[in-house]
Amino acid sequence: MSWSPNSWRDFPIKQQPQYQDLALLKRVEEELSKYPPLIFAGEARNLKQDLAKVGKGEAFLLQGGDCAESFAAFQASNIKNLFKLMLQMNMILMYSSGKQVVKVGRVAGQFAKPRSSDFEEKDGVKLPSYRGDIINDVAFTSDARIPDPLKLIKAYNQSVATMNLLRAFSRGGMADLNEVHRWNLDFIKDFPLGKKYDELSEKIDRAMKFMAACGIDSQNAPQLHQTTVYTSHEALLLNYEEALTRKDSISGDWYDCSAHMLWIGDRTRELDGAHIEYFRGIKNPIGCKVGPSMKEDELIRLIDALNPENEEGRLNLIVRMGADKVEENFPPLLKKVKEEGKNIVWSCDPMHGNIEKSSTGFKTRDFENILREVKQFFRIHENEGTVAGGIHLEMTGEDVTECTGSQSCAITVEDLASRYHTQCDPRLNANQALELAFMISDTLKG
Ligand code: PEP
Ligand code: CO
Repeated sequence: MSWSPNSWRDFPIKQQPQYQDLALLKRVEEELSKYPPLIFAGEARNLKQDLAKVGKGEAFLLQGGDCAESFAAFQASNIKNLFKLMLQMNMILMYSSGKQVVKVGRVAGQFAKPRSSDFEEKDGVKLPSYRGDIINDVAFTSDARIPDPLKLIKAYNQSVATMNLLRAFSRGGMADLNEVHRWNLDFIKDFPLGKKYDELSEKIDRAMKFMAACGIDSQNAPQLHQTTVYTSHEALLLNYEEALTRKDSISGDWYDCSAHMLWIGDRTRELDGAHIEYFRGIKNPIGCKVGPSMKEDELIRLIDALNPENEEGRLNLIVRMGADKVEENFPPLLKKVKEEGKNIVWSCDPMHGNIEKSSTGFKTRDFENILREVKQFFRIHENEGTVAGGIHLEMTGEDVTECTGSQSCAITVEDLASRYHTQCDPRLNANQALELAFMISDTLKG
């Protein structure tokens, strides 16, 4: 079957905006298709190799960032704090597991959101749902909810600037292993976890001094001085993805150059739909969410459609069942995939199956449920003799109050109102994310 960057347009598609000004949309798409790509195909190939290691249990995947990036929260400090948090988690996981940690941000393009309802109702007023800043605006007015094609350009520009800063931090010295103390975020330092992280930094410092004495330092070993943070987002808005799909001049293959890795959401993964059609043609490493409604045969057909050559590192299945369902729903799928000999990078998204509404009216998640799902995910893999490759989180380097619980900051239902900033789903704050990383690190050690 032939494929082209726009062949998805002949397939049924879900979760898309209804643009009113189609001429403007077309102009925007043409404009974007001339803009520089955000990534180079060779980088996507490197990530695929790294993910192949994850699939074999030789590396660990840490994927995380906002549920939805926003235009309003666009500022250097947010990017820097997410970067630092990822480095801290990286250090915790790497030190305990002795394995490389493959860091992939939900960042620099994570704008478009699938919604469970097309409409939102408040005090008797019904408006089209907010679909992410690349599409419409979160304000609850009818004007704000009209999809605006010009937002694609704004999202592209924000992604480029974000990517630029991430690359600067990665290469410019911020990630130097002699700086591990400085990654500790200010508001964490005095908490037990900040102290626990400091203890780890001491050990790393000693190791660095020892290596320097042996003649290995960040001057002569660039690995100690720099890192790689890859980017990813849900490729939901295919108009945007198509415009950034480019033919690699080296291999002649098509890559979605809007990010290193893209994934398909749980609501748009139907086998005969536009998203599967688009994804089968791009050579990037890709992900697909696997929620509680997934059937065994359906999963095998999906794998065959997305990774017909059973390439290692190509396909990441992101399991998001919910703490109460994972035990029952996941093992049969895992067994089937193992029986069929499919090469899969398995990761756990303990966020999207654990959403609840607090008694105070906030969309939240309880840290206990998040922990419980992660622990079960690891145990199920252990029982099956397969590899629990990584974790997929909605988290922020900011001190927000969006998810309840955790030992480190014990957020109560009443606390949620204090710093609830997300435009979509509730994120782990930096303390909660570190606590989770320490828990996983104990599991990896065990
Ligand atoms: C998401 O990752 O933000 C998301 C919407 O997830 P899912 O498709 O699993 O619901
Ligand atoms: Co989300």
